[in-house]
Amino acid sequence: MKLFENHGSPSASRLKRTSLSALTLAVLLSAGLSASAAEPLGLKPVPVPQDNPQAPEKIELGKQLYFDKRLSKDDTVSCASCHDPKFGFSNGERFATGVGGAKGGRSAPSVINSAYYKQQFWDGRAASLEEQALGPIANPIEMALPVEDAVAKLNKIGGYKSSFRKVFGTDVTADGIAKAIAAYERTVISGNAPYDKFKAGDESALSEKAQHGMKLFFGKANCSACHGGPNFSDSGYHNIGIGMDAKEPDVGRVAISKLGGDTGAFKTPTLREIARTAPYMHDGSLATLVDVINHYDKGGIANEYLDEELFELRLTSIEKAALLAFLTEGLSSADYPGHKAPELPE
Ligand code: HEC
Ligand code: HEC
Repeated sequence: MKLFENHGSPSASRLKRTSLSALTLAVLLSAGLSASAAEPLGLKPVPVPQDNPQAPEKIELGKQLYFDKRLSKDDTVSCASCHDPKFGFSNGERFATGVGGAKGGRSAPSVINSAYYKQQFWDGRAASLEEQALGPIANPIEMALPVEDAVAKLNKIGGYKSSFRKVFGTDVTADGIAKAIAAYERTVISGNAPYDKFKAGDESALSEKAQHGMKLFFGKANCSACHGGPNFSDSGYHNIGIGMDAKEPDVGRVAISKLGGDTGAFKTPTLREIARTAPYMHDGSLATLVDVINHYDKGGIANEYLDEELFELRLTSIEKAALLAFLTEGLSSADYPGHKAPELPE
């Protein structure tokens, strides 16, 4: 029998996602709207869709919604329950736990820098953060509150009603909930890590051990073949063998793309703040970063669809320790977005 999936597709219409071109930026600025604040060292500007520009009051509203358990059926679960700033915007457990203790079959990914992915979810089935945001509210194993009911519930809370009026000029709507939460998520960003400072010329930013690990990451260990670019993710899908030895493996991306080669392929996650988000992988099956490094060292888990960028690495124990130092020390930012729950409207 098929398990429920986390975050069923929301019924909201697909919202177009466009990156912020220089032109739209100029238009936004001249219209007096704030584009996203200057990005931290090492990152590109956060892509913002044209029909959902960033604005401080919208971001604050989205933050309240993100932390508000009243968005669930029995007031017990918020977005932050599974994507908790204390656990790197993941939940510290193998699987996520929704209303009534319900569990899905996938681990909660971090929300950090998810604004940079081309698609959302381990299998990429949502095209944007706006499209993603309503899914978990209605999903029976997550917040279990049909979106119409969520809208009606929030419309009875005076503080929300007036915020929506201010930000969107309407009562509470599903579209507005999605847009506000997405705008908040675009501020859950991590950059300016020791790695970025080192790259920008500050040689004291990384220990020698971490520098050694960095060379391995981009060289012998081949990590950058997939975890490349400013966000340490190619936004692509790869089979690295995780879960492929299970009786009925999670087929991942192929369910969406229908391309046989995507069997067992999952989205390459960012590695920024990776020290905070254990356990690892789409099924949370690797408990520590040492386990992760050992997984890659042996060339993944053999299967018909294994990505060709995986092969036995033959790392020495010194090299493994250096790689670990790079991942933990090099990619953890002093500017970690350790947001606290805001005061919620009554
Ligand atoms: C019960 C736990 C749970 C709750 C509550 C929850 N999520 Fe998730 N979230 C997950 C899981 C599990 C996934 C991965 C599902 C998948 O990929 O199939 C996920 C995926 C995501 C992603 C995609 C990230 C990526 O790397 O692709 C985003 C963004 C996200 N959730 C935001 C939210 C928001 C916003 C809310 C509140 C409206 C929320 N989540 C509520 C468990 C939860
Ligand atoms: C072929 C592409 C590819 C290569 C090469 C690769 N990765 Fe990955 N990485 C992925 C994908 C895809 C996932 C998610 C897989 C899954 O969950 O099934 C992942 C997951 C991870 C995770 C878990 C992240 C999380 O949030 O759970 C870590 C840590 C990681 N990789 C580190 C590394 C390191 C270190 C190297 C080099 C030794 C490396 N990766 C090489 C594609 C790759």
